[in-house]
Amino acid sequence: MYLLSPSILSADFSKLGEEILQLEEGGADYIHLDIMDGHYVPNISFGPAIIKQLRNITKLPFDVHLMIDRPERYIKDFVDAGADIITVHPESTIHLHRVVQMIKGHGLKAGVTLNPATPLEAIDYVLEDIDMVLIMTVNPGFGGQSFIESMKEKIRKLRNIIDSRGLDIKIEVDGGVKLDNAREILDCGADIIVVGSGIFDGDIVERTKAFKNL
Ligand code: DX5
Ligand code: ZN
Repeated sequence: MYLLSPSILSADFSKLGEEILQLEEGGADYIHLDIMDGHYVPNISFGPAIIKQLRNITKLPFDVHLMIDRPERYIKDFVDAGADIITVHPESTIHLHRVVQMIKGHGLKAGVTLNPATPLEAIDYVLEDIDMVLIMTVNPGFGGQSFIESMKEKIRKLRNIIDSRGLDIKIEVDGGVKLDNAREILDCGADIIVVGSGIFDGDIVERTKAFKNL
């Protein structure tokens, strides 16, 4: 059993609500929300105000991927907007452990996101505290990039660590996931796949269904 978390970064923002309902119709499990500040990553997306409005149209859990500097400044805003899971990048904060506790203190699930060049060791001392690890399989900032093949080994290694320590942590994989590589990514040990352009490049309902029936 795996879960599908479509990223709306590639949606048509002029009809965002409608497209989210199509994701729901296709069987999406979560909605992946990519928050970019133009500092931590070279792109700007959207913020809590949009999430708050989307909260009125779907009950699907919001999987909020923060690509912003010093995320501790905004955790409460995202909690109030209706986030269910928040993931942060270790490089974006001086106090990763504190941010994780802050997220969990609000009763949300907390995750840590690792860029392609960030080693698994970066999460050694927070592993017991988190609910999810998000493995970036592209460099964060943009949708539609190609999957970095060497990340398969990283996913397998993380799977081993989690299983051998008997931890209850989900592995989410984000970036370049398409219909033709998704099965293999799941076989490496992923629990949740994020798909942006792979869904929005085609018929949203049909593509969502296809990713749910790999
Ligand atoms: C990239 C984002 C991804 C992205 C995925 O910074 O974190 O979630 O939207 O898009 P695709 O599936 O097109 O690589
Ligand atoms: Zn993302």
